Amino acid sequence: PGRAGGRGRNGFPQSAPAGGPAEVTAPWALLAELTHACPLHCGYCSNPLELTRRSRELDTAAWQSVLRQAAALGVVQTHLSGGEPLLRRDLEQIVATAEHEGIYTQLVTSGTGLTEPRLAALADAGLRSVQLSVQHAAPQASDRIAGRRGSFAEKTRAARLVRAAGLPLGVNVVLHRGNLDAVGDLVRLAVDWGADRIELANAQYYGWALHNRRALLPTRAQLERARAEVAALRTELAGRTDLIWVLPDYFTGEAKPCMGGWGAVSLTVTPDGTALPCPAAATLPGLTPPNVRDHDLNWIWQHSPAFTRYRGTAWMPDPCRSCDLREQDFGGCRCQAYALTGDASRTDPACHRSPDHHLVAEAATAPPAPSPPPDPRGHAAPAAPRRPP
Ligand code: FES
Repeated sequence: PGRAGGRGRNGFPQSAPAGGPAEVTAPWALLAELTHACPLHCGYCSNPLELTRRSRELDTAAWQSVLRQAAALGVVQTHLSGGEPLLRRDLEQIVATAEHEGIYTQLVTSGTGLTEPRLAALADAGLRSVQLSVQHAAPQASDRIAGRRGSFAEKTRAARLVRAAGLPLGVNVVLHRGNLDAVGDLVRLAVDWGADRIELANAQYYGWALHNRRALLPTRAQLERARAEVAALRTELAGRTDLIWVLPDYFTGEAKPCMGGWGAVSLTVTPDGTALPCPAAATLPGLTPPNVRDHDLNWIWQHSPAFTRYRGTAWMPDPCRSCDLREQDFGGCRCQAYALTGDASRTDPACHRSPDHHLVAEAATAPPAPSPPPDPRGHAAPAAPRRPP
């Protein structure tokens, strides 16, 4: 959606005045985490250590209300995610409500459980596109990383169904030490599946992934090889397939503009109705995120302490406060700052100007040590300490 200046839907300004206080702009994207239940057990899962139980999930009417409120707020796109959103039996009703409200829907799925009749029902309800995850180009390795035997075959079948239904297909790969060397094969697999867009997302170290960081963090040499291979593939596929690749911030020395800024362009609603400025923000102490069961989305977005806490630039400490990049990287990621320093308001240690940058630099440059394979994702939090070794 266009984000040029002026007033958008609902009277929100479409851009903040340069150098001024944080002005509230309309969100355009909603990440709807419909359930934390998932048939896969990926060791890089970025969902919280403590997952929401199914009995605490929002019901159909509550999700429909969230979508109506989101549309009124300005949201034009939603990612229906999880966990595995196909486990929600009311997914068609949720999609239909989004479609009715003019919200573009993308299903973010592992492909497990996707059948031809289910996909047809979802398409009839208004589903616009599907993003399918895959863990490796080799079936056995993919199944091992996903923690589910046969899941690669399920994904292959799901990709075929999506293309046969005429829906756009995106393929998403979370990259880490265990699959980075196969990045070329992964791209070729996604092209074979008929993907319009391939997202090569280097693992983000939150939630379960942070717990497994030692086993997941790639070496710099691996990254360099992958970067060169992706650059060549991007040239080869130009004009045919979008190939998205972003170097992980652990290795760039630069903070990523996480979420496009706190409370700036998108919001997340978790399975139990907790509304968050980013998917990992529930881990931040003292944030007391609001819940859609208690407050309307307009108040949550505009006025709730959780959404205003790090909005704009006024909250920033040095070196962000005086940095020319503060309107571009927004101080980096609050969740990463907290996970690594214990203080969410510090400059993201990924930035080379951060006084805590050594925390990232040392992890990224440590010689590859033999490490145990990642713990498969489970429902309960691991007994091990949360901070990475
Ligand atoms: Fe929460 Fe980056 S993941 S601010």
